[in-house]
Formats: sequence, C-alpha cells, structure tokens
Amino acid sequence: MARFTNPSLDKLRDAVDIVDLINGYTDLRRAGSQYTGLCPFHEERTPSFSVNPTEKLYYCFGCQEGGDAIGFVQKAESLDFAQTIEWLADRYGVELEYEELDPKEAERQKQRERLYELLERATKFYERTLAESDEAGPAREYLKDRGFSPEVLAKFRVGYSPKAWDKLFVPALRQGFTEQELLAAGLAQRNDRGQIYDRFRGRVMFPLSDPRGRVRGFGARAMRDGDRPKYLNSADGPVYQKGRQLFGANHARSVAAKRGRVIAVEGYADVLALHDAGIEESVAVMGTAMTDEQVVELARLASRIYLALDADRAGRQAMIRAARVADRHGIELLVVDLPAGKDPADLIAEGGAEAFEDRVRKALTVVEFEIAQTLAAADLDSARGRDAAIAELQPIFELIPIGAVKDEQIRLVADKLKVSENALAGLRNVRVKHDRQAAGNAIVPGAAIPESEKSERLFFASCLSSRAVGPEYLEKLTNDLLSTPLMRELRDHLQKNFEKPLAGAASLKPELRDAVTEVAMLSERENASPKAIQLGFLQLEKAGLERALAGSAASDKAKIELKRQEVIKQLGELTAEFA
Ligand code: CTP
Ligand code: MN
Repeated sequence: MARFTNPSLDKLRDAVDIVDLINGYTDLRRAGSQYTGLCPFHEERTPSFSVNPTEKLYYCFGCQEGGDAIGFVQKAESLDFAQTIEWLADRYGVELEYEELDPKEAERQKQRERLYELLERATKFYERTLAESDEAGPAREYLKDRGFSPEVLAKFRVGYSPKAWDKLFVPALRQGFTEQELLAAGLAQRNDRGQIYDRFRGRVMFPLSDPRGRVRGFGARAMRDGDRPKYLNSADGPVYQKGRQLFGANHARSVAAKRGRVIAVEGYADVLALHDAGIEESVAVMGTAMTDEQVVELARLASRIYLALDADRAGRQAMIRAARVADRHGIELLVVDLPAGKDPADLIAEGGAEAFEDRVRKALTVVEFEIAQTLAAADLDSARGRDAAIAELQPIFELIPIGAVKDEQIRLVADKLKVSENALAGLRNVRVKHDRQAAGNAIVPGAAIPESEKSERLFFASCLSSRAVGPEYLEKLTNDLLSTPLMRELRDHLQKNFEKPLAGAASLKPELRDAVTEVAMLSERENASPKAIQLGFLQLEKAGLERALAGSAASDKAKIELKRQEVIKQLGELTAEFA
C-alpha cells in the first residue's frame, strides 16, 4: 500500500522511541546496551524479550517474534499497515505525506476529516449532557441501575442526547459546519418541509469508534421500554455503515491480541458489562446477523473467536459461514451456549464474570453446537422423528473429517437417539460433497479448493493490498491466467469493488462470497510490494501456459513452450533481484 511517501515513513521511523513505545505493553529494564522484559506476546515468567534501542528492533527468544516498531504495533494493536502508520504518527507527532492521492480522493479525505471532527464534537456534547444536565437524571439513574461503573461509561464515552430538536445542530451550524455535513454524519435529518432537526433526542448514546478510536456513528437507546425503536442507529453515510464494524474493537484490540481470544456478543450492553467484569477482549456485532466484514475484523483481533450470540436461524447460518472461512485460516471459532432468553449482560448481572467464563470454558465448536441444537430439537419419541434428525445431521457431519472427533460425535448421536451406530453408517461415511449438490441446504460444506486456485486466491489478496499496482494487475489477469470460472468471477467482482471488496458480498452466491471474504481476509494481513505482485503474476502466467500446453494441438505446442521459457527467464531475473 504505497500510500505514504518514503521520506515521511523515514521521518516516522526516526521519531519513534521504541523503548518508550514497548514500555507501554511490558516493563522494560536496561541490560547493557539493550532492554529486556517479559514478552507481551506470550505468557512467560522469566524475561526472554529484548529491545535494541539503537537499531530500534525487538526480539523474543521465547516465541521468536521480532521486528521493528511498525511490526510491533501491527501485532500488539492488530492494526493493518496503514492504520499502524497513522497510529504511530499520531503518537509521535509526525505529519505524514500521502503519495499519489489524486485530487478527488484528497478532497474526499478532507471531507471525511470534517465529519470525524463533527462526530467528535457531538460525542463530547452528549458526554457532557449526560454528566451535567438535569434532564439526563433518569438516564444516569438507568445506567447506574444496569450496574455499569463510571469507569466503563467513561471509557466507552457513553452520553445522553437532550429531548429538544435543535440542541446539537444549531451550535454546530454556528461553529461552521453545514447542514449537508450534519446529514452526512448521520446526526441530523430533514422533515417534510426540508428543515433539519437532531436525529437523536432523549436517548442514551453509545458512540461507535473505529479501530483508531475515531467516532463514526452512534447507537442510541430509548429510555422507556415502550419506546420504539429501542435502538436508533446513525444513518448510513460516508463514514458509518451499519454492519461493517464491531463495537468496542478499539478497546478490545490489545487485550485480545495478548490473550489470543476475542469474544463476540450481540449488543452494547453486553460489551459494557463484559469490560466491567474484566473480560475486555469483547466486542459486539450490534444485533444484525454477523457480516463477512465482521468475520474478517474478528479474525484480525485474535486467532480464537468465541461467539456468544443469539442462536436464531440467521445467527446460526452466519456462524456456519464464518466457521468455514475460519477453518481455512487456522482460526478457531467456538460457540458459547447461552441459556435461553439470556444475554451475556444478564449472565454477568446474575453471576458475575465467573458465570460467563464458565460458559466460555464449555464452548463448543460450530459442529458440536449444531449437533447439539439439532438433537435438542429432534422428536425422539418416534422412529420417524429420529430418522428425520439423522437426515438433518447429514450436512453437519460432512464438515467433519473422518477421525476420532467424528467417531466421538457418532457415538454421542447414537446414544442420544437411542439407535445403533450401524444406523448411523450414513453419517460416518459421507464424502465431503461439492458445492452444487448441497445448494439449498442450510449448510454448504466447504468444498476442497483446487490447488491451482490457491495461488490465484493469494495473488488476488496481494493485489487488494496494493492500491498502487493492484488494480493494474487485476486488469492484466486475462481469462487464460485463471484456472476456474469462479476465479474469473472473483476477478470481475474485485475489479468493480476494489476499494470495498466486501461491499454487497452478502448477496453473491455462496462460493463467490466465500472466496471474496477469504481474499479480503488474506489481504488484511498482506502488504505486498509491487515486485512481489509482479512475481505472483509471472507465476500465474507460467501456470496458465502450462495449462494451455496440456490442452493444445501438437502444432501449437512449440510456440507456447517458447512463451513459457520466456516467463521462466523473467521469473529467474526477478527472483535474483530479491535475493
Ligand atoms: N440493535 C439495534 N437496533 C434495534 C435493536 C437492537 O441496532 N432496534 C442492536 C444493538 O446493537 C443492541 C443489540 O442489537 O445492543 C442487541 O439487541 P438487544 O439484545 O435488544 O439489546 P441490548 O444491548 O441487550 O439492550 P438492553 O439490554 O439495554 O435492552
Ligand atoms: Mn439485552
């Protein structure tokens, strides 16, 4: 992502004080010319982590993590490269210069900055109103009754919007913001006569912050139980889109990275209650069935994801989809079984953190959870009902590879349904089906990805990570360089949606949506250089020519082989440059 100029990156590297930076995560002591301490990335009792202040590098002999300040922040804060640079620049007061920003994009960026500024002022105004105004008395009372501590309310910047129609927008106009900006920030709306008025009135305000801690929008809770809607959210606009983000990610990030787990819950109240209870690696998906964007975000926070969500139908389907994507990336997805009608906030109110942790300890894999749910809903009294349950379990068992886990699950089902394991032979031996056959099932088992597609998917991910050359290479990817129709559709989708590949992904057919999600997720972890992308491209060219070679008439073979040799030569030259 060649977004920052090299001189400004150098300036940033100079400005960073790596000892000061890392001291915020673990206590460092001087040891000769180095500093040492307990590794912030793994649990240890004796220090094996060291920092070299002159080279500005760190290394852990225990877990072999090492790198520079940028790499450290990327890992400790789970930020991508660009976010990390901006985070460090904020902290060390370096002004960044952006490269090749065309004037239109620069203008858009400036407008967005204004909206952030406006949202920041609104947040402060709501915070102040909650703290000081008479009319916020009942809101203060309500929040206290819910058991939220003053600390957690301050940390999440909870506020209150006054009941009047004009308390926010009038002062904002006076400060030089326009009506258009108030509307774009989702803070105001127009009535029939075209006049604007405050969108949020008489509600408890939960600001939604992005990973950098900038407020992008609000969820506003009604004060009385009868008031509808219970939560009013910011209108979608240039900086806020519902379903794209996780509530609390900015506060959960470093703890999640350290503990290696993140807990996804449904609502604002759950996150506040969990943070209050010391379970700070918690974020909320904010009610909707989890989106692909949110899965990607969760995966960036930690490699073990606990879902403590409502297990309704939509929720379960989102879970299974997430499970399939997670599976391919070595991410563990576990489901916390919640008592019927209770959310994590209720659990904590009744039994404290321990009540919740107890459930977390008993978390199930998505497969186990699905089996348990199916069995619980089955009609066990009739043979027909039991057969129906077996049929329903079929697609779930397709997700489990043959082995001890599968055996154990079969025994469990046999026991619960009171049938012989013989009756379940169909579950044991199911082949992993391919996509088309399973369409229409609630669960589409993850079809094995063809070898050829793997490198194509990786290439797409590296293209996405580079605004500088990614689009150009996508353009160059002709059909003959892609091995399957799916990969061609993926290219078309990514070309059209380069900036926001996940936009509209939910409505794509399942295989394509999975591929888009996967590639977007991989790209978050990448920061491919133009050279690396060029190398990937040549490799695809070589593979494409080899496919052509296999399928061509004898008379064409020589020509294709010549081209292949040419590509191999280029590959050799490029690889030599790398070494
Ligand atoms: N939500 C929403 N719009 C609604 C209802 C819910 O955006 N009309 C989102 C909110 O993020 C909410 C979450 O879905 O936090 C979960 O909904 P619910 O369980 O009803 O809310 P809680 O946060 O648990 O609210 P409370 O406990 O305060 O009633
Ligand atoms: Mn609730």
